[in-house]
Amino acid sequence: MKTEKLWRSLFITGTDTGVGKTVIGAGLARLLVERGLKVGVMKPIETGVVSLCDAAATAREGTLSDGAFLARAARIEERREVIVPCAYAEPLAPLVAARHAARRVDLAAIRRAWEHLSSEYDLVIVEGAGGLSVPIEEGYDMASLALDLGLPLLIVARPSLGTLNHTFLTVHYARSRGLEVMGVIVSGYDPQTTDVAELTNPPLMEELCQVPVIGVVPKRGAIDSPEDAADAVEEGVDMDAFLLLLRGGGQPQR
Ligand SMILES: Nc1ncnc2c1ncn2[C@@H]1O[C@H](COP(=O)(O)OP(=O)(O)OP(=O)(O)O)[C@@H](O)[C@H]1O
Ligand SMILES: [Mg+2]
Repeated sequence: MKTEKLWRSLFITGTDTGVGKTVIGAGLARLLVERGLKVGVMKPIETGVVSLCDAAATAREGTLSDGAFLARAARIEERREVIVPCAYAEPLAPLVAARHAARRVDLAAIRRAWEHLSSEYDLVIVEGAGGLSVPIEEGYDMASLALDLGLPLLIVARPSLGTLNHTFLTVHYARSRGLEVMGVIVSGYDPQTTDVAELTNPPLMEELCQVPVIGVVPKRGAIDSPEDAADAVEEGVDMDAFLLLLRGGGQPQR
């Protein structure tokens, strides 16, 4: 009989591609590891990785692939098939990359990787590709994958003008699919900003989307390592409150 998990795993999605999902996921993973948790990570589908057999190692232009960055952050060594069960060379939406490569996304491989990680680790941080409605197969998108894995969502959003609309659409699409939204993290915030939109967006997100803003992570000169990511996330996220959410102690948001 399976025992009840003490910690809840989560699926990180974004309001768009390039919003900071990997930085937030890596930062959270490292901070949780430093608090003594055994954290698994997965990027179920990664596109734009130079070598398919090297998806969890050094990839394009000397930067780490998302899977490798997350694995380093969590300080785990797992086979590539576990961290990045499905990889494509072209930097495209998964369905498009799969069609170009004439190789469907291997959902069974993702399921196997998930089962391994969820049985071996206290909690697992899964990073989606792009946003929530990004297509994976015909009639199957990122929301479908989060639903199949039974994971609540953490939404990463931009701080700037336009983000209210993107966040609202993401939250409402998630709820329309029956997904639980744990909360939003605003990524890349300028602490010195005098921009009215940036200053008012986090509280308005809470008001309009009825969802907690779990953190507002500052923009740094560069984030080159999991240590940099952890440093930025620690500044923007109250980790004690976040741990409470992971224990299921926060208000569930539907
Ligand atoms: N707080 C920050 N300060 C400075 N740079 C940041 C910050 N957050 C993210 N970045 C940079 O922005 C870029 C995009 O971030 P990231 O890779 O985390 O986005 P993503 O949502 O995971 O993208 P993808 O959709 O490709 O997976 C990266 O170069 C990253 O280093
Ligand atoms: Mg990423």
